[in-house]
Amino acid sequence: MKDLFGNALRDYHNNNYTEDLITSTNISGEDKLPLPYLFRDFTEMPKLEQKALRLAKGNILDVGCGSGSHSLHLQENGFNVKAIDISEGAVEVAKSRGVKHIELKALLDETESFDTILLLMNGTGIFQELSQISTYLKHLKSILNPNGQILIDSSDIQYMYEDEDGGLWIDTNAGYYGELDYFLSYKDEEEIPMKWLYLDFERLQLACESVELKCEKVMDGEHFDYLAKISI
Ligand SMILES: C[S@@+](CC[C@H](N)C(=O)[O-])C[C@H]1O[C@@H](n2cnc3c(N)ncnc32)[C@H](O)[C@@H]1O
Repeated sequence: MKDLFGNALRDYHNNNYTEDLITSTNISGEDKLPLPYLFRDFTEMPKLEQKALRLAKGNILDVGCGSGSHSLHLQENGFNVKAIDISEGAVEVAKSRGVKHIELKALLDETESFDTILLLMNGTGIFQELSQISTYLKHLKSILNPNGQILIDSSDIQYMYEDEDGGLWIDTNAGYYGELDYFLSYKDEEEIPMKWLYLDFERLQLACESVELKCEKVMDGEHFDYLAKISI
């Protein structure tokens, strides 16, 4: 990983904001990911994220914390939060913004246990592909305290396969339609392509059942997205 995401966070944090991240996928063209969005405060967050933060309790783990916006809000409200991310730039920026307890660490390497585990901004993306969901869910279960909760958001992206007449062009012989190849570029540099998984709620629920976890929908978002609560 070249950590272009982390470079962009560093630039924005150090008042060197000149351009946005550019994203694209194997099924969609280029889109801007505005850097200010990655530094949103509570009032600027989608309702799903606000709801997740309101439900958070006990010892909290913020997985893939980015610039630390969710952790900072929780910290300011008196919660004990640990933030982790695999991006060096993200960890540096979140630390500099005031996140007290933060580590450069991948989710599968986390061994402490928590009452609330947050995975926000398409939290299922971190699972990368369908074949890895049970590995990630089993690991999350192993670091969840009894009566704990995992709060995770994602989207059903079937709408991305609709043509102008409302017909679907999903290749039923290919893998699951939410498994995307994700491309990121910043300042004319291209990140190494990665896999990023969007999961519809029913598929997440089935995956949870298969590893003996409960999964309920907390709320729907504004555009095929949802927040789910997973528990033992
Ligand atoms: C879409 S960003 C979301 C950032 C932040 N949660 C937000 O809402 O602004 C996903 C973050 O997850 C991090 N990430 C990806 N895979 C990870 C893993 N296996 N463990 C921990 N963090 C990961 C990325 O470096 C990135 O910062």
